[in-house]
Amino acid sequence: MARPLTKRAPRGLKRMLSLREFEAALARLPRPARDYFRAGADDELTLADNPRAFERIKLLPRVLVDVSTRDLRCNVGGHELGLPVLVAPMAYQRLAHPKGELALARAAAAAGSLYVASTLSTFTLEEIAGVGGLRWFQVYVHKDREVTASLIRRAEAAGYSAIVLTVDVPVLGCRPNDLRNNFALPGGMTMANLAPYMARGQNATLAAFFASRHDASLCWDDLKWLRGLTGLPLWLKGILRPDDARRAARRGVEGIIVSNHGGRQLDTAPAALDALGAVAAAVKDTPLLLDGGVRRGTDIVKAMALGAQAVLVGRPFLWGLARAGEAGAARVFEILREEFDRALALCGCRSVNEIRADLLGRRAP
Ligand SMILES: Cc1cc2nc3c(=O)[nH]c(=O)nc-3n(C[C@H](O)[C@H](O)[C@H](O)COP(=O)(O)O)c2cc1C
Repeated sequence: MARPLTKRAPRGLKRMLSLREFEAALARLPRPARDYFRAGADDELTLADNPRAFERIKLLPRVLVDVSTRDLRCNVGGHELGLPVLVAPMAYQRLAHPKGELALARAAAAAGSLYVASTLSTFTLEEIAGVGGLRWFQVYVHKDREVTASLIRRAEAAGYSAIVLTVDVPVLGCRPNDLRNNFALPGGMTMANLAPYMARGQNATLAAFFASRHDASLCWDDLKWLRGLTGLPLWLKGILRPDDARRAARRGVEGIIVSNHGGRQLDTAPAALDALGAVAAAVKDTPLLLDGGVRRGTDIVKAMALGAQAVLVGRPFLWGLARAGEAGAARVFEILREEFDRALALCGCRSVNEIRADLLGRRAP
């Protein structure tokens, strides 16, 4: 007898109890994709330090607080999110699963999260918008500025509610395995957003793409040009220094994402969490988000106690996609929600508004 075609979560997903358990799913991917997703720059010191920074900070729980009801919602850029987790912009998601960006954007929408679409997605920004849910568009600025202008106009027309300008990639960081693998998208996949502006087969490797098309001359004064292209809110992603944060705030950006690009750009840059406190002290009125190494609900509490409104999570969603597509990504969200909820309760917090710096214990050496 034929089995009914019910849509069931793939077996075993419920038994996955932490984000790190999903990393093993990378083994299912061809080597170049696996290496690309995993990679950090050079000696991968910053990559390794991002999660360690969370381990170094201890939490000091408040006790005897009535935490019988808890509210995980938070506000980011005028949007109410179901939990303080956004999906970090990541290129080439079809390398993890055939449904790629569409599957991850669907999981984000179902979780009440916000999906940040990369310029280098393998479905077009319009196809991703078709999924629904909250979405921002991440921009890399091209030497041909008209390409960027056109992408931003398309994003605005497709209902993206903010532009995220990535500022930590004047040039591409050195990821040795990607160079050894001559890393490029396999046949049948394209940088879908850019296809209309590129000749076929042009810039086959990622390194060649950045070297020939990406604008390393971008500087603070160019924010005026960017502002002139769109009325959408502008967030800068990849700031680590208080003086840069102040510069951004003076130019009226809507928010800053404290990030070292998941350790993929400047090796030996500080862990994102280690940079957060000083940035938060420098720009009290500018909303902050953080990414890099967030793997646990307690990590979200620590980032928020240090001044972030929410966090972005990157690689674990790719692991979830590689494990089981949309269902895998949905399980990653579910684990984060359960862990964050439990961490709130155990810290004596009923809502995100009660996460304050007094929860931070002594930093381990
Ligand atoms: C495979 C991969 C591709 C990425 N692509 C982009 C991108 O296109 N644009 C961007 O701003 N950041 C990109 N990032 C950086 C992420 O947005 C984010 O800063 C980082 O992954 C967060 O660290 P985590 O992976 O430890 O959570 C990428 C990261 C990875 C792992």
